Formats: sequence, C-alpha cells, structure tokens
Amino acid sequence: MPVISCSAPGKVILCGEHAVVYGAPAIALPVLQVSTTVKIIAKPQAPPRSITIKAPSISLDGSLDSLELDNPLRAAVNLVMQELRVNRIPACEILINTTMPLSAGLGSSASVTVALVRAISTYLGHPFDNNRVNHIAFEIEKLHHGSPSGIDNTVITYGAPVFFQRNKPIEFFKIIRPLTLIIADTGIKGSTASAVAQVRQRWEMDRDGFEAIFREIGQLTLQIRRDLETGHLDEIGPLLTRNHELLQRIGVSNLALDQLVNVAMQAGAHGAKLSGGGLGGNIIVFANPEQAQQIAQKLLKSGAARTLVTLIPSTDGAC
Ligand code: PMV
Repeated sequence: MPVISCSAPGKVILCGEHAVVYGAPAIALPVLQVSTTVKIIAKPQAPPRSITIKAPSISLDGSLDSLELDNPLRAAVNLVMQELRVNRIPACEILINTTMPLSAGLGSSASVTVALVRAISTYLGHPFDNNRVNHIAFEIEKLHHGSPSGIDNTVITYGAPVFFQRNKPIEFFKIIRPLTLIIADTGIKGSTASAVAQVRQRWEMDRDGFEAIFREIGQLTLQIRRDLETGHLDEIGPLLTRNHELLQRIGVSNLALDQLVNVAMQAGAHGAKLSGGGLGGNIIVFANPEQAQQIAQKLLKSGAARTLVTLIPSTDGAC
C-alpha cells in the first residue's frame, strides 16, 4: 500500500520579531531537532472520497469533511486541490505527527502546514516546489495569526537561515561559523496574534517612538547578519540582549521572560532575548557550546518548562 511521507522542521526567530511586521528585517533559523511528519496512506478499499485525518498531538481523529471550512488543516488541503484544479482526492488516511510543543514559538502551525501541503501535492502526483508550498503556508498562517509577516512559513519551507523583509525577495545568507543556541520555554502559551495586536495599539498612540524602536531593531538585525556572515560571533551576544530591551519597551516581554533572560546572563551567556511573539513562549540564549548544558540546567531550575540546545550549522547561503 503506497505511503507518502513528508516533513518540515521547526524554527526560531533570532532577531527582528514585531519590527518585521512594520517593514524592518528579521532573521529566522530552522530548528532541525523538532519536526512534523505527515504520512498519507492510500485506502483503495475505502469508499471513494473517504479521507480520515489523525493528529494525536491535538487529539484529532475523524473525517476531513467534518472539520470547519476555515480549519487550517482542511483549508490547506483545499488550497492544494484548488491549485491543482482537482475536485477529489482518492480515499486515504492522513497522519500528522509532530515532535514540537504547540504554541511555544517553534512554528508548529507552519511546520504542520508545510509538511501537509508537501504530502497532499505529492499524493496527487504533483509535488509542489518550495515557492508554491510557501505561498499556501502563508495563506494558512493568516488563519492562525491574523496578519503574519510571513517569516515563519518562509524559514520552515526552505529549512535554511532567512533574512526576511516584508514585500522584498527572500534572502538566504551565509553562516560561516556554527553557533549554539539554547531555547528555553517559559511554559506560558503566548498568543502571537494578541501580542501583535497589542503592539499595533501602542504604535497607534506613539508612532514616532515606536518607529524609532523598529529602526533600531532593524539596524541590530543587519549587524547580526553581517556578524554571522563574517564569523564575528563575539559581537552578537550584546546585540541580542539589546534587542530584548527594545522588545521590553514595546511591551511584549513579561516577568517570566525577563527572569529567564537574567538567569541566562548570570550563568555566563553572551546574550539572551525573548523570541517570537512574546508574552510567554520562548527565550533564546547565545552561549559557548561547552557552557550550553549548564546554562540549560540553570534555566530549568529557575522555572523554564523545557529547554533545547540546538546547533545552528554553518551554511553557504544557497538554497
Ligand atoms: O510567535 P512566533 O514565533 O510565530 O513569531 C511571531 C513573529 C512576529 O514578528 C511577532 C509576528 C510575525 O508575523 O512576524
């Protein structure tokens, strides 16, 4: 019985979140230790058009048709069908497994969509290239987050470090020396949509002040890209920590995030900041590889719900 299996990684935002929504650049990195796999098992004996969908991480086990039309899983399948101008899918079972914690800033929603779009388009005999996958994943991110910048679906689709700026061509860039990051989860589920909406309200009240902050974040991001491209990793730590201070100023940090950032810095990290939407979710910590496990232990002792030490490999900037 034919089985299709497609997957997609997780991601972390290194710098530039929120400012990216207002046109500043941001950098996102794929996280390969976590991933989503979508398997499609053809069921030639089942009634025609019978499509079951199982996603144990969200306790989903039923027919695809029983989901609301705007359910992101159903919408993703429908968009693939529309693109291919087909109106039926041969009977099958769709099995979605993810090793990613949900709503924890690692991009679980985009990862599921990307793996699903790849699997369905392959099952229908026309595997989509990354551009097509990314386009659909962006549409589905809108169902999850309202008005996303597009950075999550982009980094997850291409599985490579991305320098992302709204309405500009995607740029992949070189990382000439690998870097070690610790990702630590506060355990508080942050809502990206609500964090973005809160920033929007504050920006409306003080446009000049917020634009100045976004400009500074944009400059930090450019500098961090240059440091990654030239291997000047020593310079990056303070830039990340400064980015955290600016995120505090736009109101998306909280006590739990600030506490974890302080613990990491006291434990010898080069830099630390919240990552993603904020108001919960993750911090990222940049540290020497030999100190990473020790810092991760301290973060766990200080209340982090989980930690992940990830090595971002060097890349040649091609994709
Ligand atoms: O919460 P995350 O990891 O999906 O990141 C959101 C990043 C924001 O810049 C806050 C929003 C966006 O769409 O870019």
